[in-house]
Amino acid sequence: MDGIIEPRREAAERLRGYFEVQLRFAETITARTARPLADTLREVTNLHRRFGLGRARAGPASEGWARYAEGLARCASAAERLDWTVAFFADAPPEPPGARRFGCFSYELQDEDQVVRIHFSNRDSGGDRGPLVRAKADRRVSELREMFGHVRARHGQARAVRGGSWLYNLEAYRRLFPRDYGASAFEPERVRLDGTSSWGQLLDFRGTVKPAVAQALLDNIGQGDIAAPWRAFPLRALSVESPIAPFYRLYGV
Ligand SMILES: CC(C)(COP(=O)(O)OP(=O)(O)OC[C@H]1O[C@@H](n2cnc3c(N)ncnc32)[C@H](O)[C@@H]1OP(=O)(O)O)[C@@H](O)C(=O)NCCC(=O)NCCS
Repeated sequence: MDGIIEPRREAAERLRGYFEVQLRFAETITARTARPLADTLREVTNLHRRFGLGRARAGPASEGWARYAEGLARCASAAERLDWTVAFFADAPPEPPGARRFGCFSYELQDEDQVVRIHFSNRDSGGDRGPLVRAKADRRVSELREMFGHVRARHGQARAVRGGSWLYNLEAYRRLFPRDYGASAFEPERVRLDGTSSWGQLLDFRGTVKPAVAQALLDNIGQGDIAAPWRAFPLRALSVESPIAPFYRLYGV
């Protein structure tokens, strides 16, 4: 879905369901705390980033977020808060272009450029099937071959590869990488919720919400530990890390 350039207002309407789940999730938490809804939203949803405001950091809110929070405070109902969120997104600047992309993949360097961190977003434009189906695995592997060729040529000092995502629960994703990388998966103590590493599981390949996953998430947070809200996600974001040499071998770069 990300592969198609979509007018901002259409994207906002498509994402309405995604925003609704995020609002309901934060409202459920807020009902059990004394914190303002806007603070909870900044921490446990990815709205800050979707509004083009970057990572949500602790401390005073950015100017853009303060404007969103003001509008939110004027809303009298959940329906009004959703309309305001959709409208705010529609008027927000696009997220700043990140790193260079290799199809569905991109990377960033961490730990003094010794570690390559992998990111995935759906840039596949292939019709009515998702990007991770077996029939498209060769396409994904070619993207990884190109990316790791680029990494090897530009960042010879890189020693390891790292990831953190719900996607590492899926064999359909793990099969794209060296076996030991997927096998290294563990559940971290804390998971940030201001990105896509947990929230991504709510979306299907068309970029619309999977209703059963949304329902399970909202049921879980209603009964769960609000001090560890990431545990309410049906699939936990997993951390993975392993040496880079097997990646070069697997992709032949
Ligand atoms: C990743 C994404 C495209 C998957 O959507 P989708 O509609 O399930 O896509 P696909 O049809 O390609 O799914 C492929 C495979 O994943 C499996 N799968 C997807 N979600 C699953 C879930 N919640 N539980 C179990 N399996 C799941 C499917 O069964 C399928 O496997 P199979 O072909 O072996 O049967 C979609 O969730 C997305 O774009 N998310 C946002 C991006 C993201 O999460 N990035 C991570 C950033 S850290």
